[in-house]
Amino acid sequence: MKKDARIYVAGHRGMVGSAITRRLLEGGYADVVTRTHSELPLDDDGAVKAFFAENRPDYVILAAAKVGGIVANSTQGGDFIRENLRIQTNVIDAAYRYGARRLLFLGSSCIYPKFAEQPIVEESLLTGPLEETNLPYAVAKIAGKVMCDAYAQQYGFEAFTVMPSNVYGVGDNFHPEHSHVVAGMLRRFHEAKLQGAEKVVVWGTGTPLRELIDADDLADACVFLLENYTEGGMINVGSGEEISIRDLALLMKSVVGYTGDVEFDATRPDGTPRKIMDNSKLSALGWRPKFSIEEGLAKMYAWFCEGAALREA
Ligand SMILES: NC(=O)c1ccc[n+]([C@@H]2O[C@H](COP(=O)([O-])OP(=O)(O)OC[C@H]3O[C@@H](n4cnc5c(N)ncnc54)[C@H](OP(=O)(O)O)[C@@H]3O)[C@@H](O)[C@H]2O)c1
Repeated sequence: MKKDARIYVAGHRGMVGSAITRRLLEGGYADVVTRTHSELPLDDDGAVKAFFAENRPDYVILAAAKVGGIVANSTQGGDFIRENLRIQTNVIDAAYRYGARRLLFLGSSCIYPKFAEQPIVEESLLTGPLEETNLPYAVAKIAGKVMCDAYAQQYGFEAFTVMPSNVYGVGDNFHPEHSHVVAGMLRRFHEAKLQGAEKVVVWGTGTPLRELIDADDLADACVFLLENYTEGGMINVGSGEEISIRDLALLMKSVVGYTGDVEFDATRPDGTPRKIMDNSKLSALGWRPKFSIEEGLAKMYAWFCEGAALREA
């Protein structure tokens, strides 16, 4: 990928898209094209075609999607499948028709079967039933991955899919109901510190294991893959570092500087006992994450305290 290539980052104001945009600019890529949701609604086929006809990016990174937590997913399934199918179909098709050289599509680990063997290998896709709570979102993401493969096979368009594990970091969403595990926990410890609360209660036994990846590491991996990966298909991107919910809570307590107690409410559901990706394909290419969970959380908390995140709260 040449430094003067025109690169369109779709979803550049989201957590992942903003990290990718920062990484590209830091890496000396000078022609990064972005549009906000209101400037370019990606579910509008005509608007997407007009944008691609005018701008003709060489590379496209598709980090725009309707994303949400368990509540939004289970109550707005219609919106999730419609919006995501439209966004992906419009962008992948226009990228091909208007001459882009390559497209990177961001998938999600929820597309893997609910009971996939751990660590999850890329080949386990479509080998078993999916988790029911976010089925419309997962099916849309699978359709996007299959569309990339089919365009590669039929038209020779170099579209491929990156499958990240749980992402956290700068730009995360701290909404009390719609946030993911790390951002939700960070907010609760921060509020407990401010209120001088005696304890923070964490749902479940604390034993489930999760693989987390810092958004800046994911962004670095995406740029690395655009520069070095030619195989196509799909590739897992995780940190390879697992942490239990208990250890995550204790680490969060220390990063935030909360001095009260942490309690685990074992009457609440634990969710999947372990979720980790097999990252051997990525490791074999020579990519390694830069941030440990401790470093990533400290960076995220510093950003949160700067107040940028509070506008979402
Ligand atoms: N966060 C994770 O843990 C995680 C894990 C695995 C995979 N991923 C994937 O990574 C990608 C980015 O996720 P994220 O966490 O960065 O999400 P995010 O913070 O919610 O960002 C999504 C971006 O897409 C934009 N967008 C949504 N609908 C649009 C539309 N119709 N037209 C134009 N722009 C639209 C949003 O703009 P507005 O905010 O203005 O609507 C936002 O900037 C997604 O495909 C997601 O599936 C994320």
